[in-house]
Amino acid sequence: MKNATVVVVGGGGREHALCLSLDASPLVDSIHCVPGNAGTARLATNHACDMSIEALLDVFGRVGANLVVVGPEAPLCEGLADACSDAHIPCFGPVAALAHLEGSKLHAKRTMEQAGVPTADYQRLDHHSDVNAALDAFSGAPWVVKRDVLAGGKGVVVTEDRDEAASFIEASIRSDGFVLLEAFLPGEEASMLVVMDGTAFHTLPPSQDHKRAYDGDLGPNTGGMGAYCPAPVISEAVHEKIIHRIVEPMHAYLSANETPYRGVLFIGLMIDDNDDPFVVEFNVRFGDPECQVTLPLVKTDVFSLLYGAATDGLHALSLEVHSGSSVTVVLASEGYPAAPIKGRPIHGLDKALTTTAYGEKWVNFAGVSTSEDGGYIASGGRVLSCTALGADLAETQKTAYSLMSALQLEGGHYRSDIAHRAMR
Ligand code: AMP
Ligand code: GLY
Repeated sequence: MKNATVVVVGGGGREHALCLSLDASPLVDSIHCVPGNAGTARLATNHACDMSIEALLDVFGRVGANLVVVGPEAPLCEGLADACSDAHIPCFGPVAALAHLEGSKLHAKRTMEQAGVPTADYQRLDHHSDVNAALDAFSGAPWVVKRDVLAGGKGVVVTEDRDEAASFIEASIRSDGFVLLEAFLPGEEASMLVVMDGTAFHTLPPSQDHKRAYDGDLGPNTGGMGAYCPAPVISEAVHEKIIHRIVEPMHAYLSANETPYRGVLFIGLMIDDNDDPFVVEFNVRFGDPECQVTLPLVKTDVFSLLYGAATDGLHALSLEVHSGSSVTVVLASEGYPAAPIKGRPIHGLDKALTTTAYGEKWVNFAGVSTSEDGGYIASGGRVLSCTALGADLAETQKTAYSLMSALQLEGGHYRSDIAHRAMR
């Protein structure tokens, strides 16, 4: 396919990253983004839309979409890929029945049991359960409690405080009917993005997110404060175990569905002291900010990769990746994640845009809007991220931080230790 029209659904840093890599493809003629942000507006046409499936399909039809790329999980869980299939529009992102892997943690656990994929032991607790006995059964390590809902990262509590665990369990049972109590997995986390369709899969270079708000992995959980790629914790030996124990069985399971999985499977991993991988979670979309560091390392034409997955063409595609490293550092608004203060001007961004280039050092926009006078203002919790790509990880980290130091946002905060685990 040449002269393609692509629609990217979403409006965060991940979607800006998708637009940047699609814009670099000679096969793409025009990019549209729903709703997009001030960054996507620089290279795509943004469409304001109520985000219902009907309204989205209307946009796809009006622009003549050859490919729809879905950034966030919610529209997939609501059936956007099913609707695209009915309308004969290739869609990167799985149908609702398979997106349920992210939509329900219990479903994900049961799937892993059936497929023989290593993950933490768990118990399902409801009104009839003996919560104290369950807490006893998982004592000796922090308790991990997970609600079975799409909670935007707020559905999981990991705590050494028994009372906190018990009250989260009780509140979750009250609101949802049941909850999962899971064994704590010790080790180091990493993210693996696997692009797949009914014919093949391609694993992208593994990355590592930094979920806590502050340096040293302290403070509250966030959507992700920065990432780097590739992550050395995934050595070649670990990679092989992940393929054999997790990716192959999941691909077989997902390809057996009436409509195969067409999109990216995000595998949240814990690598233990014996270098054995366990699945912490599955997501049915690119990670944010993992996407920002992973796609720039893909040498293969990204449109061909995404279009291939959407049309069961991956068997005919070979994946090539760059040998370097990438780092992205997130700038968050004051008060993020609890209560971000929005609406403040971002200084230095105009100038930074004139001195940067995608593939070397650049800014991924997330919660950024333009004000009436044409300036940039912070309109979200995670505002933007400064990203760099280079041969050497330490140099690349420095480049990303020097780009960040040219920007000013009152009360804005970022971590100063992104990629620290790779520097040990
Ligand atoms: P999830 O939403 O399932 O990804 O969980 C959010 C975060 O909680 C993960 O990124 C981990 O840092 C932590 N976590 C979840 N499950 C476990 C577990 N079984 N053992 C240790 N940490 C966990
Ligand atoms: N960075 C983690 C996520 O996208 O879920």
